[in-house]
Amino acid sequence: MLDVKAIREDFPILNKGIMYLDSAASSLTPEQVVLKEMEFYREYRANVERGVHRFSQEASEEYENSHEEVARFIGAPSKSNVAMTKNTTEGINLVANSVDWKKTDKIVTTVIEHHSNFITWLRVRQRHGTDVEVVRSSTEGLFDLADFEKAIDDNTRLVAVTHVSNVLGCIVPVKEIIEIAHEHGAKVLVDGAQGVPHIKTDVIDMGVDFLAFSGHKMLGPTGSGGLYIADAELATTEPLCIGGGTIVDVSIDDYVLAVPPMKYEAGTPSIAQVIGLGEACRYLNRVGMHNIEEWDLTLANRLLDGLKDIDGVEIYGPKDPKQRVGLATFNIKDMNPHDVALTLDLEYDIATRSGHHCALPLMKELYNLNSGNVRASTYLYNTLEEIDALIDAVTEIAKD
Ligand code: ALA
Repeated sequence: MLDVKAIREDFPILNKGIMYLDSAASSLTPEQVVLKEMEFYREYRANVERGVHRFSQEASEEYENSHEEVARFIGAPSKSNVAMTKNTTEGINLVANSVDWKKTDKIVTTVIEHHSNFITWLRVRQRHGTDVEVVRSSTEGLFDLADFEKAIDDNTRLVAVTHVSNVLGCIVPVKEIIEIAHEHGAKVLVDGAQGVPHIKTDVIDMGVDFLAFSGHKMLGPTGSGGLYIADAELATTEPLCIGGGTIVDVSIDDYVLAVPPMKYEAGTPSIAQVIGLGEACRYLNRVGMHNIEEWDLTLANRLLDGLKDIDGVEIYGPKDPKQRVGLATFNIKDMNPHDVALTLDLEYDIATRSGHHCALPLMKELYNLNSGNVRASTYLYNTLEEIDALIDAVTEIAKD
């Protein structure tokens, strides 16, 4: 069982009088992670993998330990399987830019994707004429696997799908989708931006080929993230950038790239952020991802139960809390969602996100919403009292 009171002590920012319900955009960071980053700047600030002096040695050791920690956190066989990126978007773009797309190839994605896992594929279509098929969901964001069976064929080179919708909170059956894709020889890229922070992730059990995720949504520093690349894809997956740090040899007319993960990390990397992300993984492991999942469900239950009974409030996404993480989007009557979010902040000290949440195809196709909606998203430090405060505030606003 998760001790929320003890956890909150690690987040002094929570004493600033704000109820933070915007973790799907970016989570808060515990003191342990902040101190670990500061330790780098105060104790052994130097470049990594480039010096024999003691600071560089220590920084390199911490940097590499962090790679190992992050790899373990998602169940990857080794640190070679995880390229450190600045966020999920960079990981997705790395995969998109690495493939020699052909006109005859097909990419299958879905209507509920974040723009990062959507426009990337539209750009591949624009550049290479590659076919892009978009699988539709129900209005709750739920899929019929038969639609993936229809869409994925032997020309399908990649299936790009999110694990958890950042708008609806719904959990997508990625394991089943991966099985269908693999039957046709297609590779699968999972957008783990909202999944990895909330659901215990094991890339081997999932069977995924690529998994992109962000450190800043899982208690880590901004500018940190990772891309898991399965063993079978390591040799053919090209780096997004090459340069210093990515080679074993260079001559006047040629170069030889280093082994992964080095080949993916060109230039001086985000050293403090990567070290901080390793610490964030240690923190999440100490709390226990299963405890986090359980608490998520408790918060989601309370959130949905409370919102559904308020007159004039429309909730989006699955009705069953078991099908989602601790996240709910809603609108109040015909109020502009930005006005609602501003009122929640200014009058009730509650931070939410409003708008289209970088998912315009979902907003347009499923709900015909021009201004989007309001999103309340939780994490391990949120309390049931905070959810109740949101519900009371929304009840009052809905009365206006
Ligand atoms: N992708 C982030 C969100 O959903 C920024 O808010």
